[in-house]
Amino acid sequence: MMTPYVITIDGPSGSGKGTLAVQVATQLGFHVLDSGAIYRLAALKALNEKVDLQNEELVLNAIKNMDIHFEAGSDLSIPFLDGQDVSQQIRDEATASAASIVAAYPSIRKELLDVQRAFLKPPGLVADGRDMGTTVFPDAKIKIFLNASAEIRAERRYKQLIDMGISANIADLLNEIEIRDERDRTRSVSPMVPALDAVVVDCSMMSRTSVLDLVLSHIADNEQ
Ligand code: C5P
Repeated sequence: MMTPYVITIDGPSGSGKGTLAVQVATQLGFHVLDSGAIYRLAALKALNEKVDLQNEELVLNAIKNMDIHFEAGSDLSIPFLDGQDVSQQIRDEATASAASIVAAYPSIRKELLDVQRAFLKPPGLVADGRDMGTTVFPDAKIKIFLNASAEIRAERRYKQLIDMGISANIADLLNEIEIRDERDRTRSVSPMVPALDAVVVDCSMMSRTSVLDLVLSHIADNEQ
């Protein structure tokens, strides 16, 4: 059987990698892995079980019993935790922050490795996250690291929340983004760094369409 084709898109939160991953996968007819959602589900499980997030062993025990799956939605897929649709809960800032705490634990990352690799099915996968190109799929054919300044990312998140009718404060968002980036970048296992063979794209000043065009042309160049 032909080895399925993997494209990894890593980068910090709010860089637009999730949207880009879905667009690329749609163009190619590939599957998508939103690995951040897996960490968010793990964090939500720990929060639901009222586990002390500072205790790695208790968090690990909690997530060993979690039952997760995704169902096709109208545009994005719908995440389920222990039989419940948790699309709303996994997106709130408390879950995001808890996710970056539990994601720093080596045993949690190890436990979630096979969960993430199980998404790889023919004809291929677009995997988005922090360590897709460095740890989860080190042999991926195409690796992108999508970056944008923290200020631009905070501004985009602010607009998203306001559009959803949720009140937000841009200074608080920037602060949360900076704390999360720092934790993701400096953890001992799988820190958020571009793979040596990744193409780094700074999309601070780019439109979503030009980022998509750039990535699709990079993929096409590598197919020849
Ligand atoms: O991408 P997203 O913001 O949904 O990820 C939530 C958190 O999960 C991140 O802040 C990061 O700490 C963690 N994460 C990770 N490795 C990944 C994906 C996400 O550590 N591959």
